[in-house]
Amino acid sequence: MSDYYPYAERFAPLHSMPEEGRSRGEILDELRQMATEENGHWENGHCSGSMYCGDHDHYAFLTEAFGMFAHANALQRDIVPSATRFEGEIIAMTLDMLHGEAITETTPGGLITSGGSGSIAHAMLAYREVARATRGDRRFNVVKPETAHPAFDKACHLFGLELRRAPVDPDTTLVDVDAVAGLIDEDTVAIIGSACNYGYGTVDPMPALSDLALERGVGLHVDGCLGGFILPWGQELGYPIPTFDFRLPGVTSISADTHKYGYAFKGSSVVLFRDVQLRNSQYFYLTDWTGGKYCSPSMDGSRSVGLLAATWASMVTLGREGYLDYARRIFSVADAMQEAVRSHGDLRILGDPTFCFSFTSDDFDIYLVNDRMRLNGWRFNGQQYPNAIHMAVTRPQTQPGVAEQFAVDLNEAVAWAREHADEQASSSAVYGGVAGGMNDEADEFIKMVMADMMDHQLGVPE
Ligand SMILES: Cc1ncc(COP(=O)(O)O)c(C=O)c1O
Repeated sequence: MSDYYPYAERFAPLHSMPEEGRSRGEILDELRQMATEENGHWENGHCSGSMYCGDHDHYAFLTEAFGMFAHANALQRDIVPSATRFEGEIIAMTLDMLHGEAITETTPGGLITSGGSGSIAHAMLAYREVARATRGDRRFNVVKPETAHPAFDKACHLFGLELRRAPVDPDTTLVDVDAVAGLIDEDTVAIIGSACNYGYGTVDPMPALSDLALERGVGLHVDGCLGGFILPWGQELGYPIPTFDFRLPGVTSISADTHKYGYAFKGSSVVLFRDVQLRNSQYFYLTDWTGGKYCSPSMDGSRSVGLLAATWASMVTLGREGYLDYARRIFSVADAMQEAVRSHGDLRILGDPTFCFSFTSDDFDIYLVNDRMRLNGWRFNGQQYPNAIHMAVTRPQTQPGVAEQFAVDLNEAVAWAREHADEQASSSAVYGGVAGGMNDEADEFIKMVMADMMDHQLGVPE
């Protein structure tokens, strides 16, 4: 049985629909066992990113909000006008946080999507649709920093856009704006900047990208999926974070994930547009269908009002003060952890990061450090080119003692890595975590291994 399906021994795998339903108590008990054990992986604060809030009281409150509307469909506004309230207010609150008041020449708007990839996809679709409507149907392109998230590559793949990658400076990890300028041509619809990027937690030079976008007449999408709901508070707290939001006149859209530092449930994100016309360009209409005239604002059809209610509830229960308080604690732990990394002469932090930081070593393979930290339950995210590991600090790390434990475990792991510097590390970079045995293999082989991994993850129990 695969590692991804460890429950087969305890719970008889289902190969078909059970003939009779089981008792609710028994089902809930089984679910509780799995959830409790799985929560154990991150509750101690040793897991990078992923569980952004980690407060079970907050989750219980969101569950209550979700439960009241989980069965309702946001496509049917006549019977659920609450969906319009939640959606409109989530968009308004996010616009407020990202300085929508600076938009004076157009009317801004937004969409709620199912996650960061969805928000990015919707932005890319909108740029393509406006270009098609005004410039005809040809192959348009977008330019992203090589560090920007694969969601851009996926969106381009899905929507027939060409993706051009601009290099980053290896020391600062920030995109080379001259290289972006060199990649723009008459078919470019948008350029991208990350605030911050997933790998290094660094913010691209947004003011320069904004100037470039205005000068060349292209859109500028800011990927704030990771940082959009925490960097604004970091700015308010006085951290030296460059302006990246609608105060820059060239910024035409921003994605910001409520299911990350918005502390909402998984399955929700916001994409904002400087001009509501850009958003509206990707609305879908089918007026002559036998089932009735159909329209939907985004790629999804039916959507849960429950998730909208829970997202709204998360934002409203925290408010500015709550977000600021969480951010203060997260930034302070990130500072302490970065200090611990800097105390080792043979570790190097990449660029000038924020609440999320990445480090490598020029003296040994950093995955040796990761191998050792894993024994103490640490779960970092892995990168490549160069090999590095990153920690996106979240609320679980702000528990007392976690930053101190990080420093202690890091001391031990670095000493171990120095001693074993000539050995092959057993972990390597796989998005969202680290796994064993994929280093330095050919692309096709890696795809085969990953396909196998996905088959197992999705697999029908044997
Ligand atoms: C910077 C950035 N952009 C986009 C995404 C994609 O978000 P999602 O996984 O919610 O689709 C992520 C995810 O971590 C991210 O860190």
